[in-house]
Amino acid sequence: YKEIQVALLGLGTVGLGVYKVLQMQKEEMQHKIGTEIKIKKILVRNLEKAAGKIEDASVLTNNWQEIVNDDKIQIVIEVMGGMEPARTYIMEAMQAGKQVVTANKDLIAADGKELMDQAKKSGCDLLFEAAVAGAIPIIRPLKQCLAGNHLSEIMGIVNGTTNFILTKMAQDGMEFEEALALATELGYAEADPTADIEGLDAGRKVAIMASIAFNSRVTFDDVYTEGITKITASDIRYAKEIGSVIKLLGVARNTPEGIEVRVHPMLIPERHPLASVNDSFNAVFVHGDAVDDAMFYGRGAGELPTASAVVGDIFDIARNLQYECCGRISCTCYKQLPIKAMDD
Ligand code: NDP
Ligand code: HSE
Repeated sequence: YKEIQVALLGLGTVGLGVYKVLQMQKEEMQHKIGTEIKIKKILVRNLEKAAGKIEDASVLTNNWQEIVNDDKIQIVIEVMGGMEPARTYIMEAMQAGKQVVTANKDLIAADGKELMDQAKKSGCDLLFEAAVAGAIPIIRPLKQCLAGNHLSEIMGIVNGTTNFILTKMAQDGMEFEEALALATELGYAEADPTADIEGLDAGRKVAIMASIAFNSRVTFDDVYTEGITKITASDIRYAKEIGSVIKLLGVARNTPEGIEVRVHPMLIPERHPLASVNDSFNAVFVHGDAVDDAMFYGRGAGELPTASAVVGDIFDIARNLQYECCGRISCTCYKQLPIKAMDD
């Protein structure tokens, strides 16, 4: 193909980020994946609101059928959020033979298995690197790079909004509500921020990581969740007095007694590496029998960081489509790509 045509479902924080990153990558794309990505359609609810965000408003539609019935669209990028209609659209896209990229942790945490089963049945890819910890590569490392381990523990800060709020309260003396409003304005919070502040969003991410790392089915219902709404300015001050900080941590342990998954605020000594993970940054520790300890760190939310992970998934699929790749993890089809000369 001269170009790969894709459709974007949603043009909010992440959707617009994906639109921008694909534009930023225009020059390099050809060298990296041997083709160009063209956004053929963007699905939104409010056409007028979306028209002001992009150059060419003719790609906007509020009709899903125009996308699912268009055989030229090969990849559907779901960044609308929520359970429905996102779930139906992803299922229908795969049934129509389209590859799917999503950032939707709500959906993957609840129905990941059914969606993956459909992907397998349809011979499609369903990639969701952005669903956990924003820009940080963690899904692929757990699934592929660390597959040679028995992974026993995952622990970390996996919600940017709450980490931002706790940082602002501790370092700038900001009130909870003010910090939450700022996190929303910066595009970190979910459409309903209750999911962030009550620990539900982090719980979903922990469920996804545990399922992959421990090769088990762990859903959001298995996770104990407690958020940060009861943390007061005095709690943060007392923590400081004893040389600690308060962080919202997600923990998943694979023990002989079973899998334990939880999210709750914890006191962390200031010298601990997680204590210096601030603002919208996330960090994930993984323990495996061969790797020992590994730590992943980066921006956990926001427009461009999240889009970075989504576009990485799009490029992976596009590269495979371009070379009619076998799709195997050990695949070497990408070696057929033209190599860019060092002085180009
Ligand atoms: P936003 O609320 O900013 O954007 C959602 C977009 O989807 C809007 O353009 C909205 O259109 C559109 N939309 C929603 N429902 C429909 C529908 N039924 N039909 C057509 N369009 C619809 O959300 P985000 O961009 O922040 O998040 C998107 C997804 O990415 C979510 O799953 C979220 O959890 C995930 N995510 C978000 C991150 C972040 O930092 N924000 C990080 C990682 C993942 P309209 O405005 O017209 O209503
Ligand atoms: N609301 C989420 C967060 C977005 O704050 O971490 C990234 O998943």
